[in-house]
Amino acid sequence: MKSTRNFMFFLCPMLVLGFLYYSSGRLHLRTLVQKSQYDKQGFLTKLDGKLPLELQYKYGNLSKGECKPGYAEAKMMSIYPKFSKPAPMFLDPNFKRLSRISSYPPPFGVRTQEKIIDVILAATKRYLLDPELDSLSCKRCIIIGNGGILFNKSLGSKIDEYDVVVRLNEAPVSGFEKDVGSKTTMRITYPEGAIQKPEHYEKDSLFVFSAFKPMDFKWFLHMVAKERLRSMEGFWKSVARVVPREPKDMRILNPYFIQEAAFRFIGLPHNNGLMGRGNIPTLGTVAITMALHNCDEVALAGFGYDMSSPLAPLHYYEKLKMSAIKESWTHNISKEKEFLRKLVKGGVIQDLTNGI
Ligand SMILES: *[C@@H]1O[C@H](CO)[C@@H](O)[C@H](O)[C@H]1NC(C)=O
Ligand SMILES: *[C@@H]1O[C@H](CO)[C@@H](O)[C@H](O)[C@H]1NC(C)=O
Ligand SMILES: *[C@@H]1O[C@H](CO)[C@@H](O)[C@H](O)[C@H]1NC(C)=O
Repeated sequence: MKSTRNFMFFLCPMLVLGFLYYSSGRLHLRTLVQKSQYDKQGFLTKLDGKLPLELQYKYGNLSKGECKPGYAEAKMMSIYPKFSKPAPMFLDPNFKRLSRISSYPPPFGVRTQEKIIDVILAATKRYLLDPELDSLSCKRCIIIGNGGILFNKSLGSKIDEYDVVVRLNEAPVSGFEKDVGSKTTMRITYPEGAIQKPEHYEKDSLFVFSAFKPMDFKWFLHMVAKERLRSMEGFWKSVARVVPREPKDMRILNPYFIQEAAFRFIGLPHNNGLMGRGNIPTLGTVAITMALHNCDEVALAGFGYDMSSPLAPLHYYEKLKMSAIKESWTHNISKEKEFLRKLVKGGVIQDLTNGI
């Protein structure tokens, strides 16, 4: 009797230990498997661009060229399961409820700028894209980069077929229609990148402001209120003094896209949520991030620098050569390109100029 009891005393802890050992082994195994499937950022490591079976069923019968509802999101989820679509394009008067941006100062959020944003939004009064575009059941968007790779490719008419054409900073349209198209739904701009000559703005496009530093909000308030900015202090080059747009055609881009691109998608240094060395995504990647959340299909053109040909043009609209590009303090072009390559390889976005 006694020996059985002793044996039980011995057996029970052994069973517990054995179970613990077994389950920890399984856990370990599982993390090993996960490690090999996903990279540090959470993207699938093996990208072949093929449609997963359930998407083949969903999209397989649509005729070629037809807009596929929810396609970019579905493809993104298949290579990056953490993706969550809802994120409004622009700030509206309820922006303080967006918890992800309220804890970061610019460029990653709105902290410290809440009051001035309230004033700006009270003046613009509009916070959506455009009733006609918003009511589309399927939206195809294209982001036009400024790269020389667009030059002489005659993509203009193809670009104009998209529902939403997004241009960046001062990239011109007039005189370049054959290559870059003539339609501009919105122009996303920071102060130093804004077109300076009022006559160079296209007739009707949304002016979408993207803030990178606190100072930028002050500039934008002046542009909305049509007041001349007295001082250029705090900007790294001269900025536009006037933006020839009515307040109702002006918007503030949701800074969440900068935050998500930097810290989640690209994996730039967090630096306690402050702007620091090499942790600011380029505007082009910010625009792509916005489109992933707000468009059913996403394409881009004019992205990618060809560092191996220093004599290639840097931008499609000027004579600057590739060799003029300097190591950037704020951006990390190579890490950013890695991210964009995952999107293209995974078939989430389509690259019309094959520069990525
Ligand atoms: C695709 O076509 C098949 C056969 O015509 C049909 O049964 C199926 O419902 C279609 N799928 C979708 C998503 O429309
Ligand atoms: C543009 O492309 C056309 C044909 O595709 C070519 O004949 C022409 O020389 C090119 N122009 C320039 C400036 O490269
Ligand atoms: C870009 O990222 C790489 C890899 O993390 C790093 O080695 C490099 O120093 C970074 N460049 C800049 C400009 O921060």
